[in-house]
Amino acid sequence: IPVKEEKAKEGGLSVEEEIINVVGSIPDENETVSITVVGASGDLAKKKIFPALFALYYEDCLPKHFTVFGYARSKMTDEELRDMVSRTLTCRIDKRENCSEKMEQFLARCFYHSGQYDSENNFKELDKKLKEHEGGRVSNRLFYLSIPPNIFINVVKSASCSASSSNGWTRVIVEKPFGRDSESSAALTRGLKEYLVEDQIFRIDHYLGKELVENLSVLRFSNLIFEPLWSRQYIRNVQFIFSEDFGTEGRGGYFDSYGIIRDIMQNHLLQILALFAMETPVSLDAEDIRNEKVKVLRSMRPLQLDNVVVGQYKSCIKGGVNYQGYTDDETVPKNSITPTFAAAALFIDNARWDGVPFLMKAGKALHTRRAEIRVQFRHVPGNLYKKNFGMDLDRATNELVIRVQPDEAIFLKINNKVPGLGMKLDRSNLNLHYAARYSKEIPDAYERLLLDAIEGERRLFIRSDELDAAWALFTPLLKELEEKKIVPELYPYGSRGPVGAHYLSAKYNVRWG
Ligand code: NDP
Ligand code: BG6
Repeated sequence: IPVKEEKAKEGGLSVEEEIINVVGSIPDENETVSITVVGASGDLAKKKIFPALFALYYEDCLPKHFTVFGYARSKMTDEELRDMVSRTLTCRIDKRENCSEKMEQFLARCFYHSGQYDSENNFKELDKKLKEHEGGRVSNRLFYLSIPPNIFINVVKSASCSASSSNGWTRVIVEKPFGRDSESSAALTRGLKEYLVEDQIFRIDHYLGKELVENLSVLRFSNLIFEPLWSRQYIRNVQFIFSEDFGTEGRGGYFDSYGIIRDIMQNHLLQILALFAMETPVSLDAEDIRNEKVKVLRSMRPLQLDNVVVGQYKSCIKGGVNYQGYTDDETVPKNSITPTFAAAALFIDNARWDGVPFLMKAGKALHTRRAEIRVQFRHVPGNLYKKNFGMDLDRATNELVIRVQPDEAIFLKINNKVPGLGMKLDRSNLNLHYAARYSKEIPDAYERLLLDAIEGERRLFIRSDELDAAWALFTPLLKELEEKKIVPELYPYGSRGPVGAHYLSAKYNVRWG
């Protein structure tokens, strides 16, 4: 248990110390942070974690004294790890700059220890090495579990027994999947809590670290023109759309036992929905925000099969290129019925959102890559322009679009007069296009989240009761899909997805954006 957090619970810290503990702080001269990437030889570590740590170093966001350790079973020397890591580092932040000097400095702080995931002795050896680098300072330790979920508990057990900090904090970042239903998720939580307290567990959902998702609360709670409209009175429906223009290439093995509903909807899209729909939190404190998220999740109706459409992509030849179908992947069983696409209508049974359909759509191998929140407003009652100019009210409603990626933007569709002597109307965008407005590169979600974990800021991490509430919504549906062996509707690679998604939205008088 982190010493500070333990003392704070016992009331042993001064008010000032407690505040620092809650909001987090970069450790000072006498403190050090050791970051251990468990599973350092893997895909996520190379692709996201080491580059994010370098970006934080480049931006001077890491504490003065820090060390990065890679830990995995593969045999590697420190030099080999540095060589592996260096291949994925880029000068993303400022492409004009030559950041090789900074890279060298960063790599000199990276080390490697090879060990088994369930060996307390191997973690003791790691502990010894960490201590050498910590040089007698207060040691704070962050472990990032970038490994398959079936070995999370082994690592937590060995690391907490043999390599947790004796005089600073110890925190553990856990990657998804957090189980595959309510029962397995609860078992994982119980397993983690045998060795850690909730405050030490940082469950990551990288969508919460995306710039426009973080901005959602700012947009809503700091602009008078939005908050009063944020209810069933003015909003007709809300859509959460995730689409990728590539298939499960290379990750078919993992994907086939999870499917798109668990991979994207139950976590990424539901987290955004909760932030979108929650009541105003008492403050921006992590616990206040997470309390509101739990409340709104618990007000939702569990998903029902007749409000869900599932699909799977099939092969398709386009421009002479043969795009493989999902089951053509060698790591996927030929008769797999795992959905690679799903659309769903969800409802929140509270006073603010009664009757408003929240639609979700997520799919792989579609025609485009995008993640968006689309808010469609009701029509203007007694609209003058309908009477005089035959305006189609359904098409003329305002729409707020928050484009999370790519090409981040927020735009509001409004009705406007086309300039000229006559009276002709069209739909135009009030457009906040990030690339045009802000010159600075947008940080990767993993940078934000790693920095928050180092600083002890928990706002963007998932608390266990949030996770339970999220699984409670999806578990009955997932069980029914599996028990009834529901066969997904096939859609060609690179298409807009199954037509069933349109019937579903039409049922609620919604047109997908
Ligand atoms: P990998 O499959 O690449 O595994 C990471 C490392 O874990 C491997 O290099 C290997 O290291 C060790 N490992 C792999 N399989 C086993 C096994 N069966 N038993 C013991 N050790 C094993 O995973 P990723 O890097 O892709 O992902 C890490 C975590 O992050 C997972 O929980 C994944 O679900 C999650 N995640 C990944 C994403 C991605 O884009 N890759 C995206 C979002 C989440 P060694 O053999 O050297 O010990
Ligand atoms: C991961 C999913 O959580 O998110 C992947 O497991 C998906 O299937 C990825 O491709 C998408 O993340 P991003 O940040 O590239 O949109």
